[in-house]
Amino acid sequence: MKLNTKFGKFGGLFVPETLVAALEELEAVFIRYKDDKKFNDELNDLLKNYAGRPTPLYYAERLSKIAGCKIYLKREDLLHGGAHKTNNALGQGLLAKYMGKKRIIAETGAGQHGAAVAMIGALLGIKTEVFMGSEDIKRQRANVLRMKLCGAKVVSVESGSRTLKDAINEALRDWIANVQDTFYLFGTVAGPHPYPTIVKHFQKVIGEEAKRQILDAEKRLPDYVIACVGGGSNAIGIFNEFLGDKNVKLIGVEPAGHGLNTGKHGATLNKGSVGVLHGSMSYVLQDEDGQILETHSVSAGLDYPGVGPEHSFLKDVKRVDYESITDKEAIGAFKLLSEVEGIMPALESSHAIAYAMKLAKRLKEDNANNKENNLDKNETKTKNPIIVINLSGRGDKDLEQMEFLVK
Ligand SMILES: Cc1ncc(COP(=O)(O)O)c(C=O)c1O
Repeated sequence: MKLNTKFGKFGGLFVPETLVAALEELEAVFIRYKDDKKFNDELNDLLKNYAGRPTPLYYAERLSKIAGCKIYLKREDLLHGGAHKTNNALGQGLLAKYMGKKRIIAETGAGQHGAAVAMIGALLGIKTEVFMGSEDIKRQRANVLRMKLCGAKVVSVESGSRTLKDAINEALRDWIANVQDTFYLFGTVAGPHPYPTIVKHFQKVIGEEAKRQILDAEKRLPDYVIACVGGGSNAIGIFNEFLGDKNVKLIGVEPAGHGLNTGKHGATLNKGSVGVLHGSMSYVLQDEDGQILETHSVSAGLDYPGVGPEHSFLKDVKRVDYESITDKEAIGAFKLLSEVEGIMPALESSHAIAYAMKLAKRLKEDNANNKENNLDKNETKTKNPIIVINLSGRGDKDLEQMEFLVK
């Protein structure tokens, strides 16, 4: 392996021997093409003309009024396919094409990654199969239809909790059996090396654009950048460009789960412990014997007992704070953004919106208290904070699940 396989003590590649050669080949191809002019010209052309980059950074005026501070939304929901997943699917899809692979496989939770891969499979004329837990097939039916319409085969996974973790297990099993002609297009910054590095590479465009756009709009950096965390790809995508800006607070938002007494867990980074899942070392929701715990989130894309290794590193070095939001709070934010801005956020992204609104409330109270206590202006936190939220995807896929809100 030539690239760093780890982020501090996290990451690595804990995989069966059959996969080591395939991962080495993938790393070599990534190194060969990541700075290649022809590859990047083709990718950038597709990002612009097929997928619609750059996505806007939108000043959410009515939401800001309610929050009492300035809120900007990075509109990955406007990307072709309806979520940030298309950035990575295009990048890895092109790698598959340059490698001459005949078949692409992928896992999916919310169906957004699966839909993005199915679209890219159609675009590149490569046969595509998507593994999806049967529980997620039920709650994200619209995306299943989209995948099928693009010609992908959707394989229903019946094992475990029948969600994202189980879909990844099944995809890995398939890859081990078909490694010669098959490209495994992994959907987030988790999994064995080199996936966390490759997926970050193709998602970091979000933060690069967002930084340029906020500097254009406000002539200064934001005080907070907030993103939801499932495996962590939209969060790393927007955080990466701001990691060196120490005054920009970065906040990742996880689903809280149902709590210990229900046996359905959440908040991997807050409640988990260090372990190995899907080929890399990271924080993991596990019992004392290292058995993976069942998770719950209203949003299929966050319903995962692991997290990308770089997030575990960023937590431990205290560069990023990780907070959690309940189903109820996320559903409230889903409704709020729809009602005040006419933007339906994905349930995943709704977690980031919900946390931003809680934070804004706290900042308002802090400012009021500081005024009351007559603190020196310099001692108060920034008086007009700017928050950038990564709106990772649109909520159309969640409408059926949220139908009760409109009855
Ligand atoms: C809209 C949206 N946001 C976020 C996520 C979570 O993934 P990640 O943490 O890799 O961004 C998903 C996953 O399906 C998604 O569909």
